[in-house]
Order: sequence, then C-alpha cells, then structure tokens
Amino acid sequence: MRVSTGVCLLLLLQVTAVCCNGGVTSTYVRKPYASLDMPIHHFPSPPGFNAPEQVHITQGDHEGRSMIISWVTPLHRSPNVVRYWEAKGNFNNHHKAHAKTTSYRYYNYTSGYIHHATIRRLKHDTEYIYELGKHKHTRRFSFTTPPKVGPDVPYTFGVIGDLGQTYDSNQTFEHYVANPKSQAMLFVGDLSYADDHPFHDSNRWDSWGRFVEKSTAYQPWIWTAGNHELDLAPEIGEITPFKPYLHRYNVPHKASKSTSPLWYSIKRASAYIIVLSSYSAYGKYTPQYNWLKEELPKVNRAETPWLIVLLHSPWYNSNNYHYMEGESMRVMFESWFVKHKVDLVFAGHVHSYERSKRISNVKYNITNGLSTPVSDASAPVYITIGDGGNIEGIADNFTEPQPSYSAFREASFGHAILELKNRTHAYYTWHRNQENEAVAADSTWFYNRYWYPHDEEHSSTPMD
Ligand SMILES: [Fe+2]
Repeated sequence: MRVSTGVCLLLLLQVTAVCCNGGVTSTYVRKPYASLDMPIHHFPSPPGFNAPEQVHITQGDHEGRSMIISWVTPLHRSPNVVRYWEAKGNFNNHHKAHAKTTSYRYYNYTSGYIHHATIRRLKHDTEYIYELGKHKHTRRFSFTTPPKVGPDVPYTFGVIGDLGQTYDSNQTFEHYVANPKSQAMLFVGDLSYADDHPFHDSNRWDSWGRFVEKSTAYQPWIWTAGNHELDLAPEIGEITPFKPYLHRYNVPHKASKSTSPLWYSIKRASAYIIVLSSYSAYGKYTPQYNWLKEELPKVNRAETPWLIVLLHSPWYNSNNYHYMEGESMRVMFESWFVKHKVDLVFAGHVHSYERSKRISNVKYNITNGLSTPVSDASAPVYITIGDGGNIEGIADNFTEPQPSYSAFREASFGHAILELKNRTHAYYTWHRNQENEAVAADSTWFYNRYWYPHDEEHSSTPMD
C-alpha cells in the first residue's frame, strides 16, 4: 500500500515500552505505509563527459592493508586508472593502479563500464587521497585505512540493512552519514531494490550507487548479498543469479580462500567478520558449508576477539514477515556458532528491528522435546536490522506474545552503531528514524564471548 509523499509523514509517537513474555516491544508506532522510491532525477550523474560515478570502496584483503576502489564510467572504458597518495604527502608522490573493467546486459539495459581496482600495501591507520577520471572531470576522494589488527584496537562500525532508495532510505542514510563515529559499514544485504521496478530496471542500480556515494566513496562498506541481489527473472530471459550485484560489487573473497564472493571473511581492527549467503547453497558438503567449517576454527580470538557474522535472512525473528525463513540455515550452522562463541550475528530481510537474548536451540533433538530456544552463554546475540527504509515498507506485524528469546523489538526504520572498545566490551546503539531525528532507541553493552563471557542481561554496570 502506498500513499503520496505529501501525506506520509504522520507518525504516532508513543515511545513508552511494554514488557510481556519476552523482552521489550517498543510501542513507538511508525506509519505503516511504504514510501516511494525517490525519482531517478534526484540522483544526477556528476557533471562532465564520462565523469566517474557510483564510487565505492571495500576492504581488499584479509588484514586491511588493501582497498578495492570501484566506479562506473558511463560512456567510455577509459580512464580506468586510480591515482592515490598519502594525504600528508602530495600528488607528486602518487601511485597508480589499473582497474579490471566489466559491463553487463540485463534484458533491455546495458551497464556503463564498471571498474574495480585493488590498491595494495597501504600503511595502517593512514589517510589516503585518491583520484579518478582525468582533466577537468577528475574527481577526488579520501579514506583512512584501519589500524593494524589487534585484540584491543578500538573500532566503530555502522550497521544498515535493506536500504533501498526511498525518502525513508534517505533519512536512514543521512542519519548515518551525520554520525561522525563510524569508520566502516557492515551492510547486511538488499541494496538497491532495482528488482521492484519493471524488468528489474538496472538504472536503479546506477541511481543507488550515486545515492550512497557520499559514504561509500570515503569508507569501506562490507557487502552481504540479500534476496534483492538475486535478480532472477526467467520470464525475461535473466537466469544468472546475482548478475548486476556481482558485476558491481567486488569483495576480497579469495583472501579468505572462499570460492565465491557471496561468502568470505575479513579481519578489521579487533573484529573478525564472516559474511554468509542466505541465497546460496549451504547444505552439507556444499562449497559454502565446507568453507565455513574450515573458517571458524581459524579465528584467533587472541588477535581478533570480536567474531561477527553477517547474513541476510535472520535465524531468530519474531515478526510474522519472513517468519522462520532462516530456519534451515540455523539448523545447519547454529551449533558451530555456539561452539566457536560467535559474539554477534547481524541479519536484515525483515523490515523491522529486533535484538535477541543470548539463546540457542542446539540441544533439541527429535525425542527430548526441547524445541524452544534456551539461554546459552556461548551463543551470539542475533540482531535483525532490515530497517533501512526501502520501497516495500515496514514489517509491523510481530508475533504475540513476544517470545522469551526476544530482548527488544520495534517496527521502525533506522541504523546501528557498534563501538568495539577493547577485547572485552563493545557498546551498541540502534538509532530509530523519528521524523527528522536519529533517536537512540536501543542501546546496550556487549561482552565478548571469548574474553569476558558474563551475562549482559543481569549486569548492573557496564563493567560487571
Ligand atoms: Fe531481503
């Protein structure tokens, strides 16, 4: 259901919370209507002939000393070179890297030239300038590399899922950009929602790339694929899964010995981040299964204490939307997550916000009747944050009563900030979009499962 943008600002503001069987169901009630995608002319190309656009960067290796710089030139393949130098130096000392260039056709659409250049052997904790294009159409950007990986290195991540390109998406994105703390983005899938347009209009992939550029060009976004990246449309002859996404978004999967860009890992500061694909095979002996089985034991918590998993379809979700869609993946992998003491699992897909308690369902077998999640100090906290604000609207239909595993849930749009302080403590805040403000609606300390496996729920002070 949609309404015109003129009438869609009605919010019912009741910000008290109610408790029930589980945790808190916030009574803040957001308008239930989906907002429209912003018109495509809201995302103009930069001025100049063949000017580079849709610039985005992501970590380019396992340790954080490389960066993949990606961009599109709409009309010509060249220039496909990035020039870069330390910010404290000058252009005369610049280096160059050539991109691998690709393009694709999707039904009646032909993409521009999509460039991916990996720049390597960067210094840690150093600001770099980089430049794309040439002559008067040159565009200049910057980024800061992460500190050397280590157990007590503080680092701050943003978390967004299911962003899309509506007016609500814009609020989420602007709130995130205005928050000066975040150094990199953990994006949990569903980027452009191009597939909600006729013939999966890939022009909406271009407009999304321009929409988010003012963040993605300056800090790495760590990408996860969601169902809206599949772009499968056999009725128009499009039968290659993830075609636009994989052409446009490169990740360093080979650095973690993955055979697919849809699942991979990186280390960054004090975090070890594993990205999984909810829409690729993960059954026993599949490549993703085999990779994850080998991957989890490799994580050295003395080096990277914070073990964080990103995936798209949540394993624990008390919303009627997409209820239990993540169940088969949970059955395959949950016992591994508990064994290896994963700290946090971020998912999207459900267009709402929810944080779980530390629970697991691994003791269940067909004869013992233990078919509900139980408190488990070795289990992750599961956070569903598919609330970026896309064209499909809010998921405002929670199951009642609130299940015991659900700590906090709210049907609003927003983003989160995760601040890793040291090897034991992290501070987390979810910011709801409340009219034009980002309001901290759910915040908590997380204790590291390896170094400090205490109970966050019943601690009276953050340092308990
Ligand atoms: Fe999704």
